[in-house]
Amino acid sequence: MIALRDVTFQYRSDSTPVLDGVDLTLAPGALTALRGPSGCGKSTLMYLCGLMLTPQDGEVLLNGRTVSHLPDRHRSRLRAASIGFVFQDAMLDTTRSVIDNVTEGAAFTGRAPRDIAARAHALLAEFELSDHARAKASSLSGGQSQRVALCRALVKAPTVILADEPSGNLDRANGDRVVDRLRDEAHRHGTSVLVVTHDDRLAARCDASIEFEVLSAHRSAAP
Ligand SMILES: Nc1ncnc2c1ncn2[C@@H]1O[C@H](COP(=O)(O)OP(=O)(O)OP(=O)(O)O)[C@@H](O)[C@H]1O
Ligand SMILES: [Mg+2]
Repeated sequence: MIALRDVTFQYRSDSTPVLDGVDLTLAPGALTALRGPSGCGKSTLMYLCGLMLTPQDGEVLLNGRTVSHLPDRHRSRLRAASIGFVFQDAMLDTTRSVIDNVTEGAAFTGRAPRDIAARAHALLAEFELSDHARAKASSLSGGQSQRVALCRALVKAPTVILADEPSGNLDRANGDRVVDRLRDEAHRHGTSVLVVTHDDRLAARCDASIEFEVLSAHRSAAP
């Protein structure tokens, strides 16, 4: 479970907050869509949930524990062990192979390397990427890179998955497959999954949908 409690965040002290008094709870076992116009703060919200940014006010809770103001190295450790993040632009290490990209972060989960490798190859097969396992990540298309980024998040079997437009570069069939896979992961393993999408059709495949404007309306209604 991940939750934001009355979270306010601004990138610079002289700018208006991107998030102001936002409350959000991502229930275990559910896939939630996050929607809203470009620039409204969806990625920022994901980075806060992913413990990559720290709110100026309010708190972030992971499995019921306040984690937002822990020292950097503690947050990094929690992130590595418990959170799978799919960046909007994949963010693969293009100097390394596809399989290394998928497995590298999972070492910090404490799972046996052999299990991680087996799971990584199974995921690559599921997303029709087996032929690229030994290729450099720089040789992949945008859509292939996004699917590798998804495999990298799933391989850890994390308690929380945050996927920032994981279907942005994908055709309809692959987009459906990604969202269905995230929903399966949530339902089967009790994972809390948040997915940013602009696509109404994909949002309809999720268990719940949040409009960023509603979070904003909520915050302006707050005392
Ligand atoms: N590193 C940064 N420094 C300063 N401002 C930033 C930074 N990153 C984002 N912003 C600003 O914060 C606001 C929210 O950006 P964010 O990337 O969260 O939007 P988004 O909803 O994810 O947009 P998109 O749908 O285009 O991905 C924008 O006004 C953006 O310009
Ligand atoms: Mg974004």
